[in-house]
This record gives sequence, C-alpha cells and structure tokens, in this order.
Amino acid sequence: MPAPEEEFVVTPYEVKGKIDYTRLRELFGAQELTPELLARLHHLAGGELHPLLARGIYYSQRDLASLLDDYAHGRPFFLYSGRGPSGPLHMSHLIQFDLCLWFQKRLGVPMYIQITDDEKYWARAGLTREETAQWGMENLYDILALGFDPKRTHTFFDSKSIAALYPLAIRVARKINYSNVKAVFGFGPSTNIGLVFYTALQSVPSFWPSWAENRSVPCLIPCGIDQDPHFRLTRDVAEGLGFPKPALLHSQMVPGLLGEGVMSTSGSRADDALFLSDESWVVDRKLRNAFTGGRATVEEQRRLGAVPEICSIWALWRTRFAPTEAEFNEITRTCRSGELLCGDCKARLIERVHSFYEEHARQREKVKDWAESTIVTVPPKPL
Ligand code: TRP
Repeated sequence: MPAPEEEFVVTPYEVKGKIDYTRLRELFGAQELTPELLARLHHLAGGELHPLLARGIYYSQRDLASLLDDYAHGRPFFLYSGRGPSGPLHMSHLIQFDLCLWFQKRLGVPMYIQITDDEKYWARAGLTREETAQWGMENLYDILALGFDPKRTHTFFDSKSIAALYPLAIRVARKINYSNVKAVFGFGPSTNIGLVFYTALQSVPSFWPSWAENRSVPCLIPCGIDQDPHFRLTRDVAEGLGFPKPALLHSQMVPGLLGEGVMSTSGSRADDALFLSDESWVVDRKLRNAFTGGRATVEEQRRLGAVPEICSIWALWRTRFAPTEAEFNEITRTCRSGELLCGDCKARLIERVHSFYEEHARQREKVKDWAESTIVTVPPKPL
C-alpha cells in the first residue's frame, strides 16, 4: 500500500525510503509476532527457536495463533513461499527459505515453492522470457540446495506448471476486482495486464493442497513483508472459495552492503548484495568494502565502540552467519564495547561466508538430479 504521507513505500513492486517496520506492520493491518507466540513456536519445535525468529527478523504475522491451535489439534499445515527469478539469489532472499527449511526439518511438513518467471517478465522491462525462465531453474537449485526434502517439496514453476495452477486461478481471478488490485499495488495506466492478473496466480498455491485433497489444509507463508499486499487479497477471497485463509509470517528485509535501505541490486548497485553466484574473490571485495558501524579511527573505536544496528556486516551475522545465540551475543557485545575492530570482524565473517559457499556449491550439484521432478505439472482433478 503506497502511503504518500510516509517517507517510505513498500509494495511487491517497489521498496524505497527508510522503512519504519512497526509503522509498516500497522499500515498493513498485520499483528505483532509476540513473545507469547514465539514461546509457542519454541515449544512446538522441541525447545528451540530459529535465529531469524529469536533475533526479531521475523516480527509480524497474520493468524499464527489459530494455525498453531490447529496444529495442536492434529491438523498439520503446509509451507508456501516463492521467488521471482529476476537474477541470482542474494543473502536477503534466503531468509524465507531458511525459515521454511527449519519448519520442515522440525515438523516434517510439506513445502510448496513458487517460481514466478511470468511475474518477473511482466515486472522487469529489462528481462527476456528466456532469462526469467533460466534464472527460475538456477534459483530453484539454490533454494533446494539449502536442504529441502525431495519427498516433501513441490514446485510450482509458473510457466511449466500453468496447467496445474490454472483451474484454480480461474476461480480466484473472478473474485478479485480491478479497483482493489489497482489500489493495493499502486498500478497506473501503463501497467501491463499480466501484472493485473498475476496476483491470482500467487494466491493459488495457498489453496492448492486443500483443493487437491478435498479438505481444508492450513497454510503458513513465511515471506518478506513486501509480499503482504498479495496475500491480503488472497485472504480476502479465501472463504468465498471455501478455503482457509493462509497464515503469514513476515520478515524485515536485510540492509544492503552499501549501507542504504534494503539489499537491492537494481541499477548500478551490484555491490550492494552478496550473490550466491559470486566468486570467492568477489565475496572478499564486497565484504571488505561493506559499510560498517565503525568509527573513523582505531583509537576512537576502542574508546567509543561501534554501532552494530547500522552495520551491514552485523546484519549478516544476525541473519545467517552466527548460528548460536552465544556467538551472536558475543559479537554484538564486543562490537559495542570497542574490543572487536571492523577489520577483524570482517575477516572472521569472510571465512564463514566462504565455507557456506563451498558447502552450498556441493549441495547444489546434487539437487540438479531431482529438482525437475519437484515441479508440479498436472492438476489433481479436472476442475
Ligand atoms: N512475488 C514474489 C517475488 O517477487 C515471488 C513469490 C511467489 C512469493 N509466491 C510467493 C514470495 C510466496 C513469497 C511467498 O519475489
């Protein structure tokens, strides 16, 4: 929802300005991810909380309590998240899939991934059809390589899965009217009609298992909060179609390496993000040049300490590279106190990032054998 009076804008197609996340959650009408809900997740997962939950990167939700009630009453949910393949994945894109993976590992629940090669072709003037389709497969390899279970993971690759999606998209599309879409996404007169229809396709996976199994199957969607406008529409039409409203877990977006706004690679800002496709010398260069919360001189930093909250390196520790709370807290504390200098902190992170990339490359080769087989191509029934 564009909010002209605010100094930031967040829609699925535009993120700009300095985001006030609490304000954004309120503008969207979503609920807080409270300590009580986190405690329930902790319990559900057998006494453990994913760092992305424990450290407040996921901070907002819709209907999580009733999803957890259902689960407690023996009605398990499935996970749904997706990716618009406009290029290689960067660190910020992994946040939703990391959390899905954690749920799948803890609870054994099914995962549905949507790859929207159509959406990105419609949304990005600079991309060809071949490119979005190719990035779609490359992105899918990267997502699956995080560790998803081949037996419980399914992919809707829009251009390849359209026969499986379309019977339901027909029904969803009839319930969404143009003035709503226009208002929610801020579309203008020159927006192409692909995008006008597209939100119906992003809704479909939320309902697909219920449709396939002829019963109400709860859905949980971990996503960046920028995707919420789509799912507000999805939730509005759910009951009229006889499906449960999907529950949502919203994350904040990771700040870019250059220290302004969210990690983004539009325009000439390729150095703002760490891509999974970056070679190791590129990773080194980007991290060495990354914006930190450090002081102008070593002397000053020892005396005053640094400021983790504005540091792009700290954001990477926080979101992915410090797996335990003990390590994360130690980094944060020594940064603030001036004991840890930025150069040393970066060197330590660079090593960690390299080992993640090496392991990821190994796993990625393995998933190529079965990635295609996760793609759903036929509808469960004729209507
Ligand atoms: N629209 C998303 C994007 O541009 C892709 C997407 C499709 C998605 N389905 C989703 C994201 C479900 C989160 C959850 O990246």
